[in-house]
Amino acid sequence: MRYPIIIDTDPGVDDFFCIAIGAAYSDIFDLKAVTTIGGNNATEVTTRNALDILHLCKRDDVPVAAGETSYLEEEFGEPGVAFHGLNGLGNVEIPHTDKKAIDLKACDKIYEVAKECNGELILVTVGPTTNVAKAILKYPDITKMIKKIVMMGGSTDKGNITPYAEANIYHDYKAANILFKSGIPIDMIGLNVTLKSVMPREVFDVISEGSNPYIREVMQKLIDFRNGEAMHDAVAIGSMIEDYLTFEDAFVYIELNGEERNGQTVCDFNSKTPNTRVATAVNLDGYYKMMKGMLEVYR
Ligand code: RIB
Ligand code: CA
Repeated sequence: MRYPIIIDTDPGVDDFFCIAIGAAYSDIFDLKAVTTIGGNNATEVTTRNALDILHLCKRDDVPVAAGETSYLEEEFGEPGVAFHGLNGLGNVEIPHTDKKAIDLKACDKIYEVAKECNGELILVTVGPTTNVAKAILKYPDITKMIKKIVMMGGSTDKGNITPYAEANIYHDYKAANILFKSGIPIDMIGLNVTLKSVMPREVFDVISEGSNPYIREVMQKLIDFRNGEAMHDAVAIGSMIEDYLTFEDAFVYIELNGEERNGQTVCDFNSKTPNTRVATAVNLDGYYKMMKGMLEVYR
């Protein structure tokens, strides 16, 4: 049976790979929608990027629903231009589709699909979790309709925005707090494994031989732009395809102390009441195998 999924994303250079993977593995994923949020750039830009990425991947069939234009209680910060470029895609230009986002807001689309999927919907969150938190606040019964959340976020050790907090959690830690308290099962794929999941350009060049030259070139430019940094979001969604991550049960809560540790994902691996499976190790061979399988679809 295919997994019905929604990808909630802020494309985003590594989000590009996440969407390309979700779009390629149509034998594994029933990609119900892509919902967008700010973070790497403003929601208007990330929505445009999501539409264009799906178009490039020949998946105009997938609806895109634009999300919130601010975090739950804060405005968006400045776009992460250094990591994602002015256009959110590493300053790499891809063809623009004239397809538009649907009228439904992200939180309403998530609820609509959750009701349709009878408890089987999996949310793949690879940006700040504002839209999902908004859906939980607006539709509390949704927590019984979501099978699980596969999240790129957090870390069992150091952060990347502060020494303690990872970007997707930090940007809207009050939203993340709602998710980790919701009772929805979470697979947390954090920096502690994604930073180790580097796919060097030379590896990509080998596994992408024979792929569509244009898509291959776009991906090469994105990898070059990131200058060796991991494609965090690809690691998260790919873990549903190849079993390359080791998970351990933990009780995870979000630090809200109002000071320097805000947004830290505090993991208790000895808890008798775990709420999260936390990724603690990665097998790079399996990750590369998943990426190679994606590239074989884009011939
Ligand atoms: O910390 C990495 C995460 O923040 C990734 O999802 C990246 O796209 C940014 O959103
Ligand atoms: Ca992202």
